Amino acid sequence: MDIGSHDQLAKASEVILTNRVGVHSHIRGLGLSNEMEPRQVAQGLVGQVKARKAAGYIVKMVKEGRVTGRAVLIAGQPGTGKTALAMAIAKEMSDGAPATLMSASEIFSPEVSTAEALTQALRRSVGIRIKEETEIIEGEVVEVTIERPATTSGAKAGRLTLKTTEMETIYDLGGKMIESVIKENITAGDIITIDKATGRIAKLGRSFTRARDYDAQGAQARFIQTPDGELQKRKEVTHMVTLHDIDVINSRQQGFLALFSGDTGEIKQEVRDQINQKVSEWKEEGKADIVPGILFIDEVHMLNIECFAFLNRALEADNAPIVIMATNRGITKIRGTNELSPHGIPMDLLDRTLIIMTEPYTSAEISSILKIRCEEEDASLTESALSQLSDLAKETSLRYVMQLIMVSKVLCKRRKATEITTEDVLKSYQLFSDEKRSEDWLNQHADQYLFHHSAPEINSAAGNSAAAVSHVEEAMVM
Ligand SMILES: Nc1ncnc2c1ncn2[C@@H]1O[C@H](COP(=O)(O)OP(=O)(O)OP(=O)(O)O)[C@@H](O)[C@H]1O
Ligand SMILES: [Mg+2]
Repeated sequence: MDIGSHDQLAKASEVILTNRVGVHSHIRGLGLSNEMEPRQVAQGLVGQVKARKAAGYIVKMVKEGRVTGRAVLIAGQPGTGKTALAMAIAKEMSDGAPATLMSASEIFSPEVSTAEALTQALRRSVGIRIKEETEIIEGEVVEVTIERPATTSGAKAGRLTLKTTEMETIYDLGGKMIESVIKENITAGDIITIDKATGRIAKLGRSFTRARDYDAQGAQARFIQTPDGELQKRKEVTHMVTLHDIDVINSRQQGFLALFSGDTGEIKQEVRDQINQKVSEWKEEGKADIVPGILFIDEVHMLNIECFAFLNRALEADNAPIVIMATNRGITKIRGTNELSPHGIPMDLLDRTLIIMTEPYTSAEISSILKIRCEEEDASLTESALSQLSDLAKETSLRYVMQLIMVSKVLCKRRKATEITTEDVLKSYQLFSDEKRSEDWLNQHADQYLFHHSAPEINSAAGNSAAAVSHVEEAMVM
């Protein structure tokens, strides 16, 4: 191998090891104390105390599993952390009920109807916890013997001796079990479990009595006690699947492979009815629990009037998840109608919705968020560069300034420095325009562009609340 290609290989492995940094990757939870009080800066979240506390109560409600079919709306100006809050909620839920995150525009596709897409999203957010009792054999391996046949056609024969602190038994192994013993590399001294129904072998660790062979095993060996009692035990295992998973597996056209391709198409109502019935039977027999989770629909103003009507009804079903919506719109038209409504959501849905408002950040909060982002992007800044970024954020927007961090880092690297200075920030500010400067530019050079409209019309099209309010007033006068 020549040196050049070796170098390339090394570079390639560096790339694989790098963690990707997403816009919300710094968020690890809601940052609440045990008394549900938000700390000012915790788990990547800064400020927005009221909204975080409210979100905390929603997570608590879902975890307790007693409420279903509620709607929550997170409303606030752009960049005030609505999507961030939803990410935090999802992180808090990660070990229990399912949380589905989607954007309203995903509902619209040429392949499936909006009602079907919404149904799938809702059912994806309802978990079924299935309890199963299985018989297992658990013990320490005393000896494994596998006899290879003299001829290639003969079957292998094997024996496995297992013990607990109280008993020892010899098991004969069949062909399949021999294969998994070889695959799992089971040797004397391992503590293993064998699932009696499936024959699956799992290695739990090494026996403490073998701890003195440590050198021969490497540092990663886990030492545990030899199990006591009988070799055969009953164990309760729980699996969590979603209603949607069960739908897909049972819809004959697609089969379970569709779960991986995501190409599920429309699922027939009869299939769903049957599954609902089966699930409620399991529930009565104590085999399964229904765990409603969270469906988060971002940019909810993109839904049209039919979708809103569908949601109204769907929320009243027995096993509906909690639907959290987010929007940055003011009073604007409901999609599919000419009617104006707050947030572009019909009044009848708003009426059953708990609304969480997010508030604009103070300068101190903005600089805390920027500091967290710099750590996340592995960028070190001088104090003055950080305060310059915070000042810029007030003039432009938090999002724009977050983008400048990455550009400044590249500029800093180019001059082979390790710390980003005010010059790097200024340079990147000059290289990339923010929304306001770009609009000013367009207004100044209006005559050189095609199809130029004056600014007020752009505002009302974007659902700017001030402009839309004046529309409402006009409508009322008429
Ligand atoms: N309280 C916060 N703590 C930490 N980071 C935050 C906080 N609020 C927002 N951010 C970060 O700021 C950026 C913008 O926030 P986010 O995307 O959540 O805004 P939004 O309210 O969803 O805006 P939009 O209405 O445009 O969708 C994101 O990178 C987000 O992670
Ligand atoms: Mg958002």
